[in-house]
Amino acid sequence: MRPLFLIAAQFFLQIASISSALVLETMTIKHVLVPIVMEAEAGPFVEHLDLKPIDDFFPSHTPFLAFSGSLGDAKVTVITMGKDVVYETGVDNVGTVPASLATFLALEKMKGAGETPVDLVVNGGTCGGFARKGGAIGDVFLTTGVANHDRRIGIPGFDTYGIGSLSSEIDPSAMAEALGYKTGIVTTGNSLDKTDTDDEYMKDKNDASVKDMEAAAIAWVCKMNNLPYMGVKVITDIVDGNFPSHEEFMENLASAAQSLQSALPKVLNYVCENKELGGSEEL
Ligand code: ADE
Repeated sequence: MRPLFLIAAQFFLQIASISSALVLETMTIKHVLVPIVMEAEAGPFVEHLDLKPIDDFFPSHTPFLAFSGSLGDAKVTVITMGKDVVYETGVDNVGTVPASLATFLALEKMKGAGETPVDLVVNGGTCGGFARKGGAIGDVFLTTGVANHDRRIGIPGFDTYGIGSLSSEIDPSAMAEALGYKTGIVTTGNSLDKTDTDDEYMKDKNDASVKDMEAAAIAWVCKMNNLPYMGVKVITDIVDGNFPSHEEFMENLASAAQSLQSALPKVLNYVCENKELGGSEEL
């Protein structure tokens, strides 16, 4: 049995985290930063909103790209992590390092004079889902928190730091209900596949509903900037299913990007406009 003082401490922590939560439905959002790692994931959304590339947004020696435009009265800036030149592979810069660096640089840039400061970060992308949490290919998840599953440091204090669990500043449940999406915690690691130990962390420590390769890193940058983070993740593969993730991922990437293109405007419309469904086909 847990000691009484531990139960009491947990109770007060929960109360504190509930009372510090931002109520999405009462927030005024004027500028949303949308980090989307892969070009294939971002393309349909950028085209759909007719966002324009911004030259010279990032330092010229970085591979990151930025696009901007508007949705209703709100400004929308999409960043993608560009292609790898360091290892000369030309593939997308996936993983936590480019995601945190690009997000940090983008936020710094938009703090400048004459810029509309960012008030929300919506990280769109694909993810692996867990059948045990009700996930199916094509499902859209709005994240309620982030954690890492591949930062295992067995020293007191460092263990908690490694997992880096952050609860969402905003509760997406009303939006999820309105838009017909699911909610859950996203667990982040730098591998598309997983080890048995990753599995243990994802299930027992992180209680994850979806798995990706950047959310916890972007949320960490948001936390430093006192900005709310929300992930909008479309499932391409089932992590606890019968097929290798990379095969299912490649098979479903294009359809997931289309689904993201349809989901992101609905989410942005919900957060920026009058919290209406925003589900009209022209969005
Ligand atoms: N993105 C899409 N599927 C993924 C998976 N299984 N793991 C990490 N990132 C993903």
